[in-house]
Amino acid sequence: MFEHDDFKVIDETKQGQPTLIAPLEGATKKLYLESYGCQMNFSDSEIVASILKDNGYSTTKVIQEADVIFVNTCAIRDNAEQRVRGRLKEYKAVKKQNPDLVVGVLGCMAERLKSKLLEEEKLVDLVVGPDAYRDLPSLLESVENGQKAVNVLLSKEETYADITPVRLGGNGITAFISIMRGCDNMCAFCVVPFTRGRERSRDPETIVKEATELFEQGYREVTLLGQNVDSYLYAGGGLKKEIMTEEEKKGAVNFAQLLEKVALVSPLLRVRFSTSHPKDMTDEVLHIMAKYDNICKYIHLPVQSGNSRMLERMNRGYSREWYQDRISAIRRIIPNCGISTDIIAGFCSETDEEHKDTLTLMEWVGYDFAYMFKYSERPKTLAERKFTDDVPEEVKSARLAEIVQLQQGLSFESNKKDVGKIFEVLVENTSKRSKDQLSGRTSQNKVVVFPKKEFKAGDYVLVKILDCTAATLLGEAINE
Ligand code: 5AD
Ligand code: SF4
Repeated sequence: MFEHDDFKVIDETKQGQPTLIAPLEGATKKLYLESYGCQMNFSDSEIVASILKDNGYSTTKVIQEADVIFVNTCAIRDNAEQRVRGRLKEYKAVKKQNPDLVVGVLGCMAERLKSKLLEEEKLVDLVVGPDAYRDLPSLLESVENGQKAVNVLLSKEETYADITPVRLGGNGITAFISIMRGCDNMCAFCVVPFTRGRERSRDPETIVKEATELFEQGYREVTLLGQNVDSYLYAGGGLKKEIMTEEEKKGAVNFAQLLEKVALVSPLLRVRFSTSHPKDMTDEVLHIMAKYDNICKYIHLPVQSGNSRMLERMNRGYSREWYQDRISAIRRIIPNCGISTDIIAGFCSETDEEHKDTLTLMEWVGYDFAYMFKYSERPKTLAERKFTDDVPEEVKSARLAEIVQLQQGLSFESNKKDVGKIFEVLVENTSKRSKDQLSGRTSQNKVVVFPKKEFKAGDYVLVKILDCTAATLLGEAINE
């Protein structure tokens, strides 16, 4: 599902693929839209498509047909940026064929490099940051008038709350709903606070409305998205850090309350969320998860490192013991909860002993799944300014390999424990390997493949697990 080095909670098979909306009546121009990075970026692409659709564009999967190419970029690790640079080179040939073609760079890399991108990548006409998508139609107009256009302003208010995203390349069953933007945490390694700005939460009523509409359209699962969902707090709009008075705080809606509101849309609508933060995850949220069957029993709780000195340097706001306490709380309140994590190997000054602490913590938790990365220094971050990126590349690679190997074992162990059990699976689509097999997920977010029979996407099916690999559960429907 992913390449260790590259991306987070994303479907790696979708990286960079063009997305399509049905040809629209009255559409005069064609957009080719490619997306990289996290789910939030894919969700933003759906907002971009919606804005362009309202301005007379339809989308195409054929790059040679395009009037406009947009690439929605990621800046989290250097290799994510290099991949986009490579893509831009390939667009050059297309532009040679069609000199009127407009090329726009959107998203985190646009925000990080700003107008420098225009200097470095001559073919780029348009640079637009994640908070400036409403401005796209007028920026495109400037480009048509022969100018280069840049808008990388970050906003205090923008949550695109009133924009109904055009669902791109989905299965019609599962969808993402963005509930907040930006991040105030300033983890020392992370570029996100610089590319996505300060944290602000979206009006809960608009979130519930979006979930309700999706359900009515036949969707059966929504994932609430934010950089740190546990920090969600809505008190009428604007920045989280500006919610000051006790009165404002009392009237505010927190994440547990939001989760409950969305869970109440329908018992047949599954609710997931990502990403949680160990320093902010409350027991209140865990109790709401336990209370509603349709809130999936799965938490992605990035640990980054198992060593308290590293965690302190990373500015994560918790220690190894604190993290362990949060895991114990999950196990106590939601005994059957799936847990996954993010891990960084070789952060500045990490010793072998400290790396081993990561391995022992992984074993202690017994993660079901993990996204594992080598540390990649990012410009402007606290780590870049204060520390030296001094763990040699080959040591980083060796540590990452150990981490990946351990996780493979843990994932396999976790799957083996499920053999013989029965799970409710929400069917998403036919299996990639065989037309006669369906693929769906358990509440714990594990992929299950089973013979199709009379079932179809969107069905809830009870499946008995008969076998497994490290990545997939294999079973058989037991529904009447
Ligand atoms: N280098 C490596 N991994 C990083 N992540 C964030 N910044 C970096 C970086 N500079 C990882 C973290 C985070 C996930 C989204 O990406 O593990 O949780
Ligand atoms: Fe980056 Fe930390 Fe914010 Fe996640 S919580 S986006 S790692 S700063």
